[in-house]
Amino acid sequence: MRSAEQPDPDERASPAGPASEWWRNGVVYQIYPRSFQDSDGDGVGDLPGITSRLDHLAWLGVDALWLSPIYPSPLADSGYDVADYTAVDPAYGTLADFDHLLAAAHARGIRVLLDLVAAHTSIEHPWFREHPDWYVWADDGPPNNWRATFGGPAWSLDRESGRWYLHSFYPEQPDLDWRNPEVREAIAGVVGFWRGRGVDGFRVDAVERMVKDSRLRDDPPAVEPFPFPLHPEHAELRHAHSRNDPEIGLALAALRDAAGDAVLVGEVYLPNDELGPYLEHLDVAFTFDFLHSPWEAGPLTRAISSAAVLERVAWVLSNHDFGRIASRVPAGAARAAALLLLTLPGAAFIYQGDEIGMVDGPGAGTPSDRFGRDAYRHPMQWEPQPDAGFSSGRPWLEPVDPARVSVAAQCEDPASMLALYRRLIALRRELGAGSRLLAADPGLIAFERGEHVVAVNLADEPLPPPASGEPVVATAPIGGDGAIPPQAGVVLRGDRGG
Ligand code: GLC
Repeated sequence: MRSAEQPDPDERASPAGPASEWWRNGVVYQIYPRSFQDSDGDGVGDLPGITSRLDHLAWLGVDALWLSPIYPSPLADSGYDVADYTAVDPAYGTLADFDHLLAAAHARGIRVLLDLVAAHTSIEHPWFREHPDWYVWADDGPPNNWRATFGGPAWSLDRESGRWYLHSFYPEQPDLDWRNPEVREAIAGVVGFWRGRGVDGFRVDAVERMVKDSRLRDDPPAVEPFPFPLHPEHAELRHAHSRNDPEIGLALAALRDAAGDAVLVGEVYLPNDELGPYLEHLDVAFTFDFLHSPWEAGPLTRAISSAAVLERVAWVLSNHDFGRIASRVPAGAARAAALLLLTLPGAAFIYQGDEIGMVDGPGAGTPSDRFGRDAYRHPMQWEPQPDAGFSSGRPWLEPVDPARVSVAAQCEDPASMLALYRRLIALRRELGAGSRLLAADPGLIAFERGEHVVAVNLADEPLPPPASGEPVVATAPIGGDGAIPPQAGVVLRGDRGG
């Protein structure tokens, strides 16, 4: 049954393209399955739990949800080490539970994206033993100086064969060799399997690692810092050969063929000006310049303009790897960040819990969290009680502060963060296609979307708006003189638009 407020997916044509290109202006909600909703009291979120909470997403008005990995995994990297691509981890449920979730999401006009972790498998994936030539090997010790993302060498000894295998991430995540056509075929089969079940697209993990230098040449020392955060050992080298190979098209063309018109969203951990070759095959790519920009008008405006020219970026300010908006931006700026995220032209991704202003927690140092990211993965806070309405059992990770922040406390409050997200998502559909950055005070980010003007003040003092118009959404009360308070944002409807 479709809820009265949710139109049929195909009626949701974005102003920038046909309905089949819903993602051009779509809002995607990232679900971290372990931490969204537990339905059976084992303290771990699961698929039936997600299904039971879909009305929250429908109420919010998002176009799609993206599930971080749901596949069987030994959890060396919280599910980003996949041991079987065509099954559901029993902790999360069954394939039947997945089908049910998919049907329930579709009935609400919400599309479903899966996480395609295809640069590497788990070392426990049967392929590693059954098809060793699907991986990258060296016989006589590490053939180069490549380093792994989370520190240490990118090569480990496989005691069983006496050979060394490549792993861009943890040793438990051997890299697939995408130069091998059988690998391309195998992953195409995975894509086909899920498309056959009705999945609408994929967030593709670690795309710039899929193809490496065919000669496995050494990475030279870094002469300048990489623009985004990296593990200090990893940052010592310039990753000229271990990633971002010019032949990436080999892998991506195969994925594109298999995916057909299902959307492919790339996690490409590279600056905006290097995303071009990836966008030849992917529909959209996250912009990490935006996510990692200092919270200042100048750098943010530069990140926005270099991303906007690509026209197919996914705006994102937080996820399971980099921490929550409310903990990453200065105190009081989370509302302005939401306004910016949701008014830029293109796809926008919301990480579960940001819509209520959840903050990072302490994490718990679980064995699967060797890089300190559990801090961003605490359970969703539905209710104010200590278990946050997340689980009737003992949550795998304690909720952070449900008494202060919860869906239940915010859903009836028109001044809440949650109400702001909902309003902004609805407003997006009224904003014109494209955008134009406006010359404004150096403390302001300002751009035009059709007859609307968006302005965010990142200065320490109130600033006059860059244009006249009626405020349709403001993250803080606008002064009588129209000045925008510090760390606040406003959407104005231009006078000429009426
Ligand atoms: C991506 C995921 C991250 C994971 C890594 C290796 O960056 O977002 O969580 O650790 O890939 O799969």
